Amino acid sequence: MVRLFVTKYPHYKIINLDALTYAGNLENLKDIEDAPNYIFEKLNILDVPELERVFEQYHPDGVIHLAAESHVDRSILSPLDFVYTNVVGTVNLLNAAKKQWKTDVTQSLAKSSSNDKPLTPQPSTPKPINPSTFAQQSSTIVQPLFYHISTDEVYGALGETGLFTEETPYDPNSPYSASKAASDHFVRVYGETFGLPFVISNCSNNYGPNHFPEKLIPLFINNIIQKQPLPVYGDGLYTRDWLFVKDHAAAIDLVFHNGKMGETYNIGGFNEWENIDLVKLLCKQMDEKLGNYPGTSEKLITYIKDRPGHDRRYAIDASKINKELGWEPTVTFEEGLSQTIDWYLENKEWLKNVTSGAYQHYYQEQYAEKD
Ligand code: TYD
Repeated sequence: MVRLFVTKYPHYKIINLDALTYAGNLENLKDIEDAPNYIFEKLNILDVPELERVFEQYHPDGVIHLAAESHVDRSILSPLDFVYTNVVGTVNLLNAAKKQWKTDVTQSLAKSSSNDKPLTPQPSTPKPINPSTFAQQSSTIVQPLFYHISTDEVYGALGETGLFTEETPYDPNSPYSASKAASDHFVRVYGETFGLPFVISNCSNNYGPNHFPEKLIPLFINNIIQKQPLPVYGDGLYTRDWLFVKDHAAAIDLVFHNGKMGETYNIGGFNEWENIDLVKLLCKQMDEKLGNYPGTSEKLITYIKDRPGHDRRYAIDASKINKELGWEPTVTFEEGLSQTIDWYLENKEWLKNVTSGAYQHYYQEQYAEKD
């Protein structure tokens, strides 16, 4: 998403805040690090003075909040990390934005007639909420916006049928999804209570290059390269809706610029796979690319003890963003998976670097003695 915005909007100044914890990596954005409209700040959203310093220094007119602990298994090992980063960190960011943008209760979104206006101005858009806060702006954005990126996991689990819509009640089942649900509520509450202009999107499982190898697809690619077991949880019949990361970035771009204030948009791939079928497709593609005898990688599949509280099925109804903003996925799963595998095969050094040290410790803790 950062790469997309830096290259597509040269007149925006993009300030990338990242704590660079275990999954963060400056190598991921090496190609744009010298772009004139790009600034990197190593910063943890739990550090309030630093957060306020950054808002004071750059006067951002938009925040796209993707900073989160996001791995369910880690949330089971250490729930509090998720409360701190995802809940407290989000409230810290909301407070910093609120302070900078000087929103107040008189602008409460709930009572505002601007509810169905686009977030960023069309030519006829009236004045910014508070023009004095925009002295340094160089972009075309004249209305501040807090865009919170969330997950479909807040909706809980589906049975064999049905889809998550924007109206599906929240019903989280893991410490991760509970923390994201709480953060979504706080964002909405800051809109209701303080008039902070916001939008939220809830997306299905992403995959693609640069993905930290703790999630299913990059972990299994790495294990196939290393000829290590592929640890499938439970019966392997859990279902996820997969979306190529560049399609998610394109959706974020659209929601940020054309979404309606105070709304939620569900984003999904219209692409459901049972884990075991996905893993078999991955094995097939890996064997072809590695020149293996067909069936070689499948032999690595090992069924292991299930994840506690494992959600059976996620599937997104993305018709709202499709109808209102014209978004749809552009990359087929076979093509996206192939591109993803190629990236990991071409970047073995990256993979080696991120799987040394602390990763080994996590892997042992997560997977040892679960066979
Ligand atoms: P994951 O990539 O962790 O994403 P999420 O939990 O957010 O959906 O997992 C995707 C699916 O793959 C999920 O049903 C759990 C399963 N899974 C395994 O079977 N083995 C694994 O080692 C991992 C990481 C996930």
